[in-house]
Amino acid sequence: MEKGLIIAIDGPAASGKSTTAQLLAKKLGYLYIDTGAMYRACALKAKKLGIDINDEESIRNLLDFIDIQIENDNSKNRILLDGEDVSEDIRADDISSLASAISAIPAVRYKMVELQRKMGEKGSVILDGRDIGTFVFPDAEVKFFLTASPEIRAKRRWLELQQKGIDKDFSEVLADLVKRDNNDSQRALAPLKKAEDAIEIDTSNMTIEEQTETLYKIILSKLEEECKCS
Ligand code: CDP
Ligand code: CDP
Repeated sequence: MEKGLIIAIDGPAASGKSTTAQLLAKKLGYLYIDTGAMYRACALKAKKLGIDINDEESIRNLLDFIDIQIENDNSKNRILLDGEDVSEDIRADDISSLASAISAIPAVRYKMVELQRKMGEKGSVILDGRDIGTFVFPDAEVKFFLTASPEIRAKRRWLELQQKGIDKDFSEVLADLVKRDNNDSQRALAPLKKAEDAIEIDTSNMTIEEQTETLYKIILSKLEEECKCS
C-alpha cells in the first residue's frame, strides 16, 4: 500500500486518546497529530495577548498571525506556537476550559481544520480529537471512539494533577471535566460525537497497554484487508 492509513481517534477528555495515539504512531511509524494541542495553543496565545475568549473579533484577528507546528521525534510530540515550544504550557489546568471555549468559535475551527487536513492528507497519520472522524477526515479508513465513565476519567486527570504537585479536589476535577464534555458535545459546529462508522471502545477497565493492543489489532486487520484489495 502506498499512502498509508488515516486513523481517527475521537472521544471525551481523558478517555486515553493521546497516550494510545502516540504509542500506535510509534508502532506504525505514522505521524501523530494532537489536534487538542492546537486548540490549546490558540487559547494560550489569546491568554498571552490578554484577549478575552468571548471577544470573537479579536480572536479572529489573532488567527491571521498564528503559527502552529507539530513536531514528532522518537520520544516526544512537541507543539510550537510562533516558533516557541509550548508543549508544557498548554497543559496548564486553566488552558483546558479556555481551549474548549475558543474551539466553539467557527473561525478558529475552520483555521485549525484546514491545518489538520494539510498535515494529514498524505496519509500514514493518526489524529486524535473530538471531530476527526465526523468532520476533519470523514473518509478516514479507521475510526475509533474511546469512552470511559466520567468518574474514571476524572480520576485519571486528578492523578495527573497530583503527579504535577497540583492539589485540586477530585469533585472539582470531575465537575470541570463534565462541563467541558457538555460544551464540546453541544457546540453548533463539529461537536464531540461518535461517527456512525467509528468503533467504540470503553477503556474504563483497560490498562494503557490493553487499550493500545486492542486498537493495534484492529488497525493491522485493516492494513491486511487493504493489501489484499490493492
Ligand atoms: O487524550 P485524552 O485526554 O483522551 O487522554 P490521555 O491524556 O491519553 O489519558 C489521560 C490519563 O489517563 C493519562 O495519564 C493516561 O495515562 C491515563 N489512562 C489510564 O490510566 N488508563 C487508560 N486506559 C487510559 C488512560
Ligand atoms: O486531553 P484533553 O481531552 O483534556 O483535551 P484536548 O484533547 O487537549 O482538547 C482540549 C479542548 O480542545 C477540548 O476540550 C475541545 O474543546 C477542543 N478540541 C476540539 O474542539 N476539537 C478537537 N478536534 C480537539 C480538541
